[in-house]
Amino acid sequence: MEGRQVKFLTLGIESSCDDTSIAVIDEDLNVLAEKTASQIDNHKIFGGVIPELASRMHQEAIMPLLDDVLITAGVTEPSREISLIAATTGPGLMGSLLVGAMTARALSYGWGVPFTSVNHLEGHIFAALEENKDISPPFISLIISGGHTEIVLVRDFGKYELLGTTRDDAVGEAFDKLSKFLGLGYPGGPVIDKLASEGKAKYTLPTPLCDTREIEFSFSGLKTATINLATQLKEEFGENLPLADLATTFQETVCKILTSKLALAFDKTGVKTLTISGGVAANSAVRASLQDFCTKRGSALHMPKKQLCTDNGIMIALAGYFAHKRGETVQNRVSPSWSLW
Ligand code: KG4
Ligand code: ZN
Repeated sequence: MEGRQVKFLTLGIESSCDDTSIAVIDEDLNVLAEKTASQIDNHKIFGGVIPELASRMHQEAIMPLLDDVLITAGVTEPSREISLIAATTGPGLMGSLLVGAMTARALSYGWGVPFTSVNHLEGHIFAALEENKDISPPFISLIISGGHTEIVLVRDFGKYELLGTTRDDAVGEAFDKLSKFLGLGYPGGPVIDKLASEGKAKYTLPTPLCDTREIEFSFSGLKTATINLATQLKEEFGENLPLADLATTFQETVCKILTSKLALAFDKTGVKTLTISGGVAANSAVRASLQDFCTKRGSALHMPKKQLCTDNGIMIALAGYFAHKRGETVQNRVSPSWSLW
């Protein structure tokens, strides 16, 4: 501690799905350390996340990860140096959430440091602040991942309004199911993204619900249409299925759907700033298309770097720290379906 200015340090813990991730940030929102233990290689063989395996792997990973993060952050006396512990307590997988939340609660008790629950989606909303600390509400936040497709109006930090969501599959789920059908493995997003970089959008796919003025999505319909197209193409081309063109067409259709509903959200609210987060926000075509969309509308776009689009402890620490600043920390039970609205 000698020579170091005493700062308000927040420890953020994320374990809602298949990433164990821990971070330490200071009150100027500088990241002192962040480490993530990904379980993807262990779930890959099953073609998706196995909840029981996920919680067991969080248990194995969490304490060594915590030691590593504290050492990297230069924290030697956590009970004196850590000022707040924030952990995701929902939504997510019950067994996974319990590991992070109960570890955080135990540390809070043992170190005598306050604890706050963080809603995972509020965490995603805060991910963009790691890149740009000056983002201020109101803004629209697009959360697109394996489990979520939400357009949120952030009226203020702590005041969120759900403008629209999906009727069925999340957008990342459509990437993953399409990839599974094509035999490309799990997770599907990164593989389809890579393939699409070599293809052309040669085909036409439907854009479900795009002709309505409602902010709502149906990615199950798009997934089924793409699988049907792939089946037809298999009959025509056999082994030489034009995978890259199929992937490009799929991604471009996803971009069309997302931008058409974001346009409605901008029109409805008059807000001129967009932030994005969630695994699908790492997609090259999505990033390029949203950049183009915002430039044309004269709107600002804040995108976290790709590795911060997926689940991470930094976003949880940020959301927890802001809740503390507002005097709104919460200690709730672990809740797999905790709603932010
Ligand atoms: O945010 P995340 O790590 O976990 C949750 O689902 O909360 O997102 C994972 C999802 C998966 O569906 C994965 O296929 C998708 O994000 N994803 C991508 C890309 N990277 C990950 N989708 C499209 N393009 C990518 N580059
Ligand atoms: Zn997430």
